[in-house]
Amino acid sequence: SRLEMFVDELPDMPKIQGFGMVNACPVAKSLSIGMFTKTWKFHRDLPPTSVFAYGTSWLTATIPGPTIEALQGVDTYVTWSNHLPPKHILPWDPTIPTAKPASKTGIPTVVHVHGGIHEPASDGNANSWFTAGFKDVGPVWSKRTYHYNNNQQPGNLWYHDHTMGLTRVNLLAGLLGAYVIRHPEVEDPLKLPSGDEFDRHLIVFDRDFRTDGSVYVNSTGNNPSIHPQWQPEYFGDVIIVNGKAWPKLTVRRRKYRFRIINASNARFFRFFFNNGLEFTHVASDSTYLWEPVVTNQTLLAPSEIADVVVDFSKSKTDEAVLANDAPYPYPSGAPVNQLNGRIMKFIIKKTPEVDTWRVPDKLIKYPSPDPSSATQTRYISMYEYTSNTGAPTHLYINAKPYEAPATETPKAGTSEIWNVINLTADNHPLHIHLALFTVLDQTELLNVEVFKACMSKNNDAVKCQISKYARGRSIGVPAHEKGWKNVYKMTPGYVTRILVRFSYIHSNTSYTFDPTGMPGYLYHCHMLEHEDNEMMRPLIVMK
Ligand code: C2O
Ligand code: CU
Repeated sequence: SRLEMFVDELPDMPKIQGFGMVNACPVAKSLSIGMFTKTWKFHRDLPPTSVFAYGTSWLTATIPGPTIEALQGVDTYVTWSNHLPPKHILPWDPTIPTAKPASKTGIPTVVHVHGGIHEPASDGNANSWFTAGFKDVGPVWSKRTYHYNNNQQPGNLWYHDHTMGLTRVNLLAGLLGAYVIRHPEVEDPLKLPSGDEFDRHLIVFDRDFRTDGSVYVNSTGNNPSIHPQWQPEYFGDVIIVNGKAWPKLTVRRRKYRFRIINASNARFFRFFFNNGLEFTHVASDSTYLWEPVVTNQTLLAPSEIADVVVDFSKSKTDEAVLANDAPYPYPSGAPVNQLNGRIMKFIIKKTPEVDTWRVPDKLIKYPSPDPSSATQTRYISMYEYTSNTGAPTHLYINAKPYEAPATETPKAGTSEIWNVINLTADNHPLHIHLALFTVLDQTELLNVEVFKACMSKNNDAVKCQISKYARGRSIGVPAHEKGWKNVYKMTPGYVTRILVRFSYIHSNTSYTFDPTGMPGYLYHCHMLEHEDNEMMRPLIVMK
């Protein structure tokens, strides 16, 4: 029997302040957050589901985890502790490069604050994993307590597991949550909808469940003789928002701010309201926009964030369904169905209200991208490899596995142009740690098969005369995506040119850039099945 939609109330995740107060002055704070096994009710009519959950204790652990609220310029220290048992609740695959088999001392985990500008030792490198009680640690693990100096612009971040070869299953099990950096002096004057009632996270992901409530993952790979469990993309039909399947929220006839995080493994969402309500974008994944941008749909790849204001006083109806029409895989996969095409319902109160919140004409101005400041131009190509059945076996960036020595070693504080060449059929969200980037343009490759044939021999875009091929149509960057971002959608068959700034908006506190490259940073596709196998490369930022 099908789960009824819009029966559970939209929950809010518990909030944890990442700062203390002494004599009305904010001070650094140390938090301790654990990872626990527990059960979670995703829907009124679904039996409790076994999950891995973040929380300050087993009792308070939630799916998603608590929202960490940090203050710009005030240090937050987090001791992440692993309380997980030896056996995973989901099938993982020992044939892809993976933190060592989980059976010995526990399930390896490591936490990355996505969008954070932090020292490498606290960045959650895939090989900095640790098991329960730190009994086993990964090859570049160095400390128990992570230091987040929050010395960056106010913005929307999130935290999630990043364990080598296990990221996809650890997130499917529930290891994700929101992280916000606030800067009241800068943000309060904007008078955007604020406070617990009017400023909310919507953390959205897709799952499938068995009738006993357990998370369903197909446990046979698409290429079982090569990878017994690995599937190139995970898709579920049940859409979860803040831990509930297709929830509902009663709202007043006024403006609300929603920070929408796509926390799916592989699903893109193209959100729209079935009654025509619009989104006013005020920020993206990392920074505020200079000016608000109104759209009637919002396309988010995995790990992208839209920070929007929705004005329910404009609604002509008393109900609005937030819906989705993004094919999966994006852009040329299956069309959405009755289930995954719906996200949640808003029930709008009838009484009009005086709205004290506004969306100002100007938000926050950051330095504009200046391509002429770039000190390096790089070509980054995305490849998919298939077995003789045509099914994907793995994906690489620059035809290199993660283990190959770092080839991207930018200097801290500099900018580079990256030409990201997508030679696959799918759109891949590219995420770069530490950096912020702006998307300059996307240009179609003509005669892509000829170019691909050359690339498969040489893997050298210059030798293969990319400029001869990159002459097709160009797609503009939508206005609401023109700001600084940390992840973006790489269109298949196109070259996407991005201007990347390494450690943009600098901290005066201790960064440690390790020239030997350990543990260093990462860049990768944020479709987690791709990232795990092995669309991820080391990124070493040099002093
Ligand atoms: Cu959201 Cu490297 O990750
Ligand atoms: Cu990908």
